Amino acid sequence: MSADTWTNPLRDPEDRRLPRIAGPSGLVLFGVTGDLSRKKVMPAIYDLANRGLLPPGFSLVGFARRDWADQDFAQIVHDSVKEHARTEFREEVWRQLAEGFRFVPGDFDDDVAFDNLRRTIEELDQARGTGGNMAFYFAIPPSFFGTVVQQLQEHGMAHPPEGSWRRVVVEKPFGHDLASAQELNATLDGVFPSGSVFRIDHYLGKETVQNILAMRFANNMFEPIWNSNYVDHVQITMAEDIGIGGRAGYYDGIGAARDVIQNHLLQLMALVAMEEPVAFDANSLRYEKQKVLSSVVLPPRLDLTTARGQYTSGWQGGEKVIGFLEEEGIKRTSKTETFAAITLHVDTRRWAGVPFYLRAGKRLGRRVTEVAIVFKRAPHLPFTATATEELTQNALVIRVQPDEGLTMRFGSKVPGTSMEIRDVNMDFAYGGSFTEASPEAYERLILDVLLGDPPLFPRHEEVELSWKILDPILEHWAKKGKPEPYDAGTWGPESANAMMARDGRTWRRP
Ligand code: BG6
Repeated sequence: MSADTWTNPLRDPEDRRLPRIAGPSGLVLFGVTGDLSRKKVMPAIYDLANRGLLPPGFSLVGFARRDWADQDFAQIVHDSVKEHARTEFREEVWRQLAEGFRFVPGDFDDDVAFDNLRRTIEELDQARGTGGNMAFYFAIPPSFFGTVVQQLQEHGMAHPPEGSWRRVVVEKPFGHDLASAQELNATLDGVFPSGSVFRIDHYLGKETVQNILAMRFANNMFEPIWNSNYVDHVQITMAEDIGIGGRAGYYDGIGAARDVIQNHLLQLMALVAMEEPVAFDANSLRYEKQKVLSSVVLPPRLDLTTARGQYTSGWQGGEKVIGFLEEEGIKRTSKTETFAAITLHVDTRRWAGVPFYLRAGKRLGRRVTEVAIVFKRAPHLPFTATATEELTQNALVIRVQPDEGLTMRFGSKVPGTSMEIRDVNMDFAYGGSFTEASPEAYERLILDVLLGDPPLFPRHEEVELSWKILDPILEHWAKKGKPEPYDAGTWGPESANAMMARDGRTWRRP
């Protein structure tokens, strides 16, 4: 092998044995006072620093309409880290990180504030060696995106100085329908090249979600049966026990389908249904997901194949909880759904005739997100009918959260002198197999932004295709009256069960 064809594996940037550490950089956070920043973004930044994955000069700039000094902002981050960080609090890590905190007060349309922001970024470059590399994190309502993008451009921050980068991180909602999503994408694309826009779908940052790809494509035993010859149907459930909490302003008018089906659940479906990518890189992955999303067709009768509900008061975890319409900030006449279930078909050879059922809801029986691949029954059973009367269908359940892992359900002989076959479960649990705890999704995603590594971020085509799938359902629901009520603490409205029963199936009770 000649010297120039030999590559040292330790120098291979793709080598996963090497720690992935961000280079010189900083992050400007718009929306520092919001829930997302306090509960997810700030703690994740600290956790990354604590794991040694941020550069020593990493800097965090908060921007908000608050009369704060740098120390006030640092106090806010401190409180959020103390309350929500995953890893232990270490004074020395905190002190070094906090030296890079700055706060710029101002409104989004305030030119002076954006000039100050530019000066702050320049000062950080000098003082902390950020190299001019900055990620602008929009944890703000999308109605402000346009203004902020324009301000960044007009004040000379959108385009990176020679040899450095500028990236935008966008949080959902990416619009409320196809047209608004296209508009939003055009706004961003007009200023930032598409490779520098990172759309966050935090489900893609979850270990168990990434494991769908590892499980499917690193093994030989699943893929041969991963098709309509063996699979009867797929159920994807995202159940939450919480209500809407303090998020009335965001949630009312949005509802379960826009909040989590348009993004998290359709992304999960795409990972389950996609073909093997030619390589494990952003383009190949996104291309395969995009193919699935463009193959989705809706069944003709949306009245029979979808369901929506709204929680009323009920009992949860031994406590009485109020109904959606009694929540603070919700209009008493609100038609917003807090539960949504839909049926989709993926119109490809692999999935012909296999329905994908997606459901999501708040104030359900318990918090669980899972993907269940339910298999067809064995074509023939050489046993008496009574021997198999308790045998159901084989299933592979990907437990996204909590209790992350995989369960395989299959029939097994009950010990005894007669032949009796019953369902049993075989389990893989992350906790039992690995000593490392899973990082939070936001740790992974923020690090990927700083490294400029885009595979886990949906491309704008995927976002638009997802709206294309959902829009007809939302239009259909908009013509109907109120969503069907369901008691908090139950598994959703009766119509969701009826929808499955029509197909001769039932929802799993996780
Ligand atoms: C968010 C939704 O995207 O995901 C919330 O806006 C939801 O309504 C949350 O509660 C759930 O996230 P996780 O990671 O707790 O499943």
